[in-house]
Amino acid sequence: MWFKVLEHSPKPDALKEISVNGVELVLTNVKGRLYCFENRCPHEEVRLSLGCIKNKKIKCALHGYSFNLETGWSSEEDLERLKIYQVKREKAGIFIEMEDS
Ligand code: FES
Repeated sequence: MWFKVLEHSPKPDALKEISVNGVELVLTNVKGRLYCFENRCPHEEVRLSLGCIKNKKIKCALHGYSFNLETGWSSEEDLERLKIYQVKREKAGIFIEMEDS
């Protein structure tokens, strides 16, 4: 199910915190492409919105591990995968795909 989360795209490389169905997410805009992921580092569960975007990856502020924004895989092989959500941009706004709870 698609949920409308914003009217407009976030500014480039901004980490916009949003909440859908009680799940904390981050929406970001990398060179015009939108990405959405869970706002929880799979390593030690700090908020990834405290990190920064580098080379199409989100870099965690705590230990510096990076997660690919398309696959969710980390730069560290033994870490759990970051949960990624589908995003679409329409005239009516920005939508995230998530299971209805
Ligand atoms: S808590 Fe994110 S890399 Fe350690």
